[in-house]
Amino acid sequence: MSASLRRAYTLIAPFYDAVLAAAGTGLRAASLAQLPRQGGLDVLVSGIGSGLDVPHLPPDHRYVGLDLTAAMLARARPRGNGRHLHLVQGDSMALPFADTCFDHVVLHLILAIVPDATACLRETARVLKPGGSVLILDKFLRPGEAAPFRRALNRLSRHVVTRLDVVFEEVLAAVPELRLEHDAPVLAGGWFRSIRLVKG
Ligand SMILES: C[S@@+](CC[C@H](N)C(=O)[O-])C[C@H]1O[C@@H](n2cnc3c(N)ncnc32)[C@H](O)[C@@H]1O
Repeated sequence: MSASLRRAYTLIAPFYDAVLAAAGTGLRAASLAQLPRQGGLDVLVSGIGSGLDVPHLPPDHRYVGLDLTAAMLARARPRGNGRHLHLVQGDSMALPFADTCFDHVVLHLILAIVPDATACLRETARVLKPGGSVLILDKFLRPGEAAPFRRALNRLSRHVVTRLDVVFEEVLAAVPELRLEHDAPVLAGGWFRSIRLVKG
């Protein structure tokens, strides 16, 4: 399924910013304001896409931006000007990084997009240092939520843009080294949530 997502995001790349740039600016800024401002830290932005997060990243740190799709990374590249940003093509479910090498990980609109959210969160926990945080912005179902329309649409959408059936609580339960610190509804009646996890 990753291959179909890569093909889809290659086609979407030229239009992605036009659709999403304005919509999420405030939410991105608020989520990324949880990163420390100073300290020269190592931060992974997993599924960085076209780099819409980059202008909101505190300039002091070293960033690695990973994405499956070369066309999205090509759009992120110019946004890195003035920041220490290294871009890598790779898979958020099988990160090409050593254990415990990042102080913080950003997962904006990626955990509910990949075919296996648990693998993505496990890999995130693996590369994160103890005490490090994970910043999540995404759409999730609540445990037991029926959401028949979203579940029906998921059969198509999971191949082309995103899953619509991910229950965050089930994903987190499979990765016990991460603990929930903050979970707030931010958009669409709580469908989109801003979540902060901490390792250890
Ligand atoms: C909805 S976009 C989000 C991009 C960015 N995080 C943002 O907030 O705008 C989803 C991104 O995930 C990427 N992607 C899809 N599957 C992936 C995977 N398995 N590993 C890494 N990136 C993936 C796509 O190429 C796309 O750039």
